[in-house]
Amino acid sequence: MTLRFPKGFLFGAATSSYQIEGAWNEYGKGESIWDRFAHTPGTIEDGTTGDVACDHVHRWSEDIDWMARLGLDAYRFSISWPRLLAAGSGQANPAGIAFYDRLVDTLLEKGILPFATLYHWDLPQALEDRGGWTERSTAEAFCEYARVAARELGDRVKHWMTLNEPFVSAFLGYGDGRHAPGRRSEREALAAAHHLLLAHGRSVPILREHVPDGRVGIALNLCPVHAASPSDRDQRAASRLDGVLNRTFLDPLADRGYPSDVPYDRSVLDSFVREGDLREIAAPLDFIGVNYYTRRVVRDETVPERENAPRTVRLRREKTQMQWEVYPEGLYELLDRLRREYDFPSYYVTENGAAYPDQVGPDGRVRDPKRISYLRRHLEQSLRALEAGVPLRGYFVWSLLDNFEWSDGLGRRFGLIYVDFPTAKRIPKASFDWYGHTIAQRAIPQEPA
Ligand code: FCB
Repeated sequence: MTLRFPKGFLFGAATSSYQIEGAWNEYGKGESIWDRFAHTPGTIEDGTTGDVACDHVHRWSEDIDWMARLGLDAYRFSISWPRLLAAGSGQANPAGIAFYDRLVDTLLEKGILPFATLYHWDLPQALEDRGGWTERSTAEAFCEYARVAARELGDRVKHWMTLNEPFVSAFLGYGDGRHAPGRRSEREALAAAHHLLLAHGRSVPILREHVPDGRVGIALNLCPVHAASPSDRDQRAASRLDGVLNRTFLDPLADRGYPSDVPYDRSVLDSFVREGDLREIAAPLDFIGVNYYTRRVVRDETVPERENAPRTVRLRREKTQMQWEVYPEGLYELLDRLRREYDFPSYYVTENGAAYPDQVGPDGRVRDPKRISYLRRHLEQSLRALEAGVPLRGYFVWSLLDNFEWSDGLGRRFGLIYVDFPTAKRIPKASFDWYGHTIAQRAIPQEPA
């Protein structure tokens, strides 16, 4: 197998607004559901917040210098909706626009392509106060926001993603309450899922209108779901989880409507669907962004273990700090499945990476061989997918910087760059040098002998 990437393949790194920006209430920014959630005692494992995070709003210029040093072809960031429109709709915030203007201009000056995500989970709190994603009107507000963002930045930003991981927004935010806004209702999760997809579908033509030469997609958290045994029960359980995690989002985007073998009540989901919605949701896309970290192995838990077939598939021992199994073949399996079962025109790996408890050594350096090994193996699987004919156009490491990992707080370090949070000092890790080398050679470096 050749280890070289094709010409034009983009090497990138990704971040998101709430996880890095800080300046949560500065320069005219409105409150988001993540500000409110993280300020609520008991929600974040280590009691931290994203109030300051990486202080990127004040250090963006240094951060772009790091990206240039790394040699990135592309940078995926998200725009904070309440930084652009403090109350979610209405008056646009000139200081917010100015921030992203400078960011984008400087990226382009350094030859780095900006990939913008409109919604990486930081809904304006003002909209949540009116029902958030459980309300159809939030999809309308999203269109207004998409229009402002595309009008202001679309002359320079040509790659757009509407949403990041709508599964997580809907099912973790409104279903099990682990994420903002912390609601716990299946009905609300299903309403949110549909309204998020509706917001996506309706904003696609708006992006196309304002950025006629743009490329529009969406980033989904997709993962292979394996049954723990060949028993019918386990197979069905795996299929249902695949239904909710993967197909609830892929199928309507591919104009197939919602799947029926799912663990939730389809009639509840259907009650939110109005005439014409599914057509809008299926607006043709240029690409699907795949966020890949791990696979899932599923056991039917409704029967006692002894009444089911013996397990044949077990998780491997190798795990990241998130306790996610390291399963690089899953990335190939997923991309190959997309190629076989769907016909989206192209794909990017929009997130892939691993958290480890990195530390600064006595010599001031951060050695992270496990991350290098993780990234290497996933890049190998990306090449395998390319060779199998998957139209994979690029790969983004999650993340450029250590950052605020949602309800896990500041203790999960995913960055190529270590951030000393008390001082905001940046220290490139060994994986930074390794990835820089990969980008320069456009090939996976050979293992050191
Ligand atoms: C993804 C999110 C991203 C980050 C990684 C670890 O689900 O999109 O913001 O938290 O996981």
